[in-house]
Amino acid sequence: MLVSAKEMLNKARDGKYAVGQFNINNLEWTKSILAVAEELRSPVILGVSEGAGKYMTGFKTVVGMVNGMLEEMKITVPVALHLDHGTFEGAQKCIRAGFSSIMFDGSHYPIAENIEKTKILVNTCDVLGISIEAEVGSIGGEEDGVVGMGECADPKECKAIADLGVTMLAAGIGNIHGKYPANWPGLSFETLEAVKKEVGDMPLVLHGGTGIPADMIKKAISLGVAKINVNTECQLSFAEATRKYIEEGKDQQGKGFDPRKLLAPGAEAIKATVREKMELFGSVGKA
Ligand code: 13P
Repeated sequence: MLVSAKEMLNKARDGKYAVGQFNINNLEWTKSILAVAEELRSPVILGVSEGAGKYMTGFKTVVGMVNGMLEEMKITVPVALHLDHGTFEGAQKCIRAGFSSIMFDGSHYPIAENIEKTKILVNTCDVLGISIEAEVGSIGGEEDGVVGMGECADPKECKAIADLGVTMLAAGIGNIHGKYPANWPGLSFETLEAVKKEVGDMPLVLHGGTGIPADMIKKAISLGVAKINVNTECQLSFAEATRKYIEEGKDQQGKGFDPRKLLAPGAEAIKATVREKMELFGSVGKA
């Protein structure tokens, strides 16, 4: 059964580790992530962007697929199904479709509007026992066509949003979606510490988990980050393994590639990436 992310994140915050959010795009990615979470006894969050939801024909399909897998794969570790960077309308759709967690990304609105919209969703989520993530200070890079500048969040604004009763808060601390440029100055731990001081016990979320050096990840966890999002790294490992398989020309016996065999190396590559991240984040054995 899908669970809210609240309990797993509070435990992670107290235990000084982070739960990974791995984004899913199709059956293979989902299956790989769930298999590794179960194998390593790690809690896990499956992230779904609105674009990925659309690709999979809609949020109801995603809920049906994930619930089916939890049962058929006999998954016993805590799994949350979470909307990633949701719009107000998208968040409402996911709630209706059966997601156990949502993110409302109002970071591009003026703070008053971000507060107003987040509050409405907090009330709905409270009633239904769904966890909710809010964002202050946009994350850099590109996510589903939306480009953020990677600004650092204003700690006072973080407090205003945290006080609405969200479950977890994504605060921009110079993190970027996708690969980090060579001249990236690194995470702003100064901002992270200032945010933490304002929001107290609130579990913090680090987006853009691909390519952040291990020492920065560990320091961020020690300063209150309890959830780390990873997408691009799975995408890169999946693409590389698939490209290699095609280039090697395996399985072409007059009928093209067997779709299951074609996607198998990519699925294995995602497993390796997820394993590595769960070990780095410290969530192994914490289910
Ligand atoms: P990366 O694509 O950089 O791993 O970031 C993922 C993310 O933050 C999703 O919200």
